This record gives sequence, structure tokens and C-alpha cells, in this order.
Amino acid sequence: MVKILAIHGSPRRKGNTSMLLREAVRGARGEGADVEEVVLRDLKISPCLEIYGCRKAGRCAIQDDFQPLYDQLLACRGLMLASPIFFYSVSAHTKSMIDRCQSLWVKKYWIDESKMVLREPRRRGLFISVGATRGPRLFDGTLLTLRYFFDVLDMELWKSLLYRGLDFEGDILKHPEYLEEAVQAGRDLARAIRQSEQEAGTTQ
Ligand SMILES: Cc1cc2nc3c(=O)[nH]c(=O)nc-3n(C[C@H](O)[C@H](O)[C@H](O)COP(=O)(O)O)c2cc1C
Repeated sequence: MVKILAIHGSPRRKGNTSMLLREAVRGARGEGADVEEVVLRDLKISPCLEIYGCRKAGRCAIQDDFQPLYDQLLACRGLMLASPIFFYSVSAHTKSMIDRCQSLWVKKYWIDESKMVLREPRRRGLFISVGATRGPRLFDGTLLTLRYFFDVLDMELWKSLLYRGLDFEGDILKHPEYLEEAVQAGRDLARAIRQSEQEAGTTQ
């Protein structure tokens, strides 16, 4: 079965990005995917402390709720990550998780000495984001961060759903077309992963 991890990065439980992500989850489950949802604000995840305990085996040394999330990040075939734009970047909850994945960067480039290329492009990621303003560069910084985050996960940033001009809780409900795009993206992600698993003969 197609395993997908869906990570809610907003501090708002019923915020715009979470509602979009829930629709994407619905779409993926409708395609038969096994989707696990994680709400970062419910977890205790320290920021990276730069102690490089991960140098030993590529696993972060800080014992907190990142540990099971690390396993989930490695086990999934697809990742859906949703974060609002905060100061032209991701939310602090999301950034703490991303920074803790420095352990994976260390594993990939220092321990395994990988070349700067994707090793397993069959893993795919969907990124969902929302900002209040409408500037053309609203998502530029975040997309750069995301590109390198997905790289350490050996994942292709397969699709991004980026919406401007949404600020208050519930604003997304004025745009059923965005919610429908999210359902469709969830369906398409599950199908794309299933197809590449079938091609590789790895479907269980
Ligand atoms: C701390 C903070 C920083 C923000 N920074 C930006 C920003 O740089 N650009 C922007 O367009 N909106 C910014 N916003 C607005 C949010 O992106 C917007 O309210 C979004 O809809 C929140 O999504 P959510 O409901 O999923 O949390 C900021 C909001 C907060 C609370």
C-alpha cells in the first residue's frame, strides 16, 4: 500500500494550510493510500542544538518527539507538508523539524558520502503553503528551503500548491477551487507513487 506522511506545520489547527492538507489527505485516501497525519504543534521538537551527535550514525541525539517522526519521514513513500508563510519562510514548528533533519544531511553527505544527486526519486513530496499578501516573490525563500529539505529526504518536490491573499482562519473556505485542487493533488500523488512502485515491482 502507498504510504504517505502528512505533516501539519501551522500552529492553527483549523487554519488555511491545515484545511488544504486535510483535503489532500482525503484525496490520497480515496486512492487507497495509507496516510498518517502529524500535527507539529502537538509534538515537543527542540530546535537543532548543533551538537552534531548525528555524526556517529546519522541519527539526531536529542531525545524528543522528533525521534519517531524521523522514522516516519524515512518510511514514507510520499510526504505532504503544509506550512503557512511566516516572514517569507515556513512556520517555526516546520523549521524546527527541517533543521533536525540536518542529521539526514550528515548521514547522506558526510557518512555515506553521496554525490549531490537524488538517490531515490520515487519518493515524492507535495508542499502546500499560504500567505496573506500577494507579492510575486512571496514563496521564493520557502521554496529554496524546501528544495534542500526534500533533497536530504531523497525526495522529489513533485508539486507545490501555493496560495496568496489568505490571512484569517477560514479564508480558504471562500475558495472551494483551491480545496478541490488539494483533493486532486492528493489523488494524483497517491497514483503517481503507486505507478512508480508498480514500475519498480515493489508494490506489496
Ligand atoms: C508570525 C506570522 C508571520 C507572517 N508572515 C507573513 C509573511 O511574511 N507574508 C505573508 O504574506 N503572510 C504572513 N503571515 C500571514 C499568514 O501567512 C497567513 O495568515 C496564513 O493564512 C496563515 O496560514 P494558516 O491559517 O494555515 O496558519 C504571517 C502570519 C504570522 C502569524
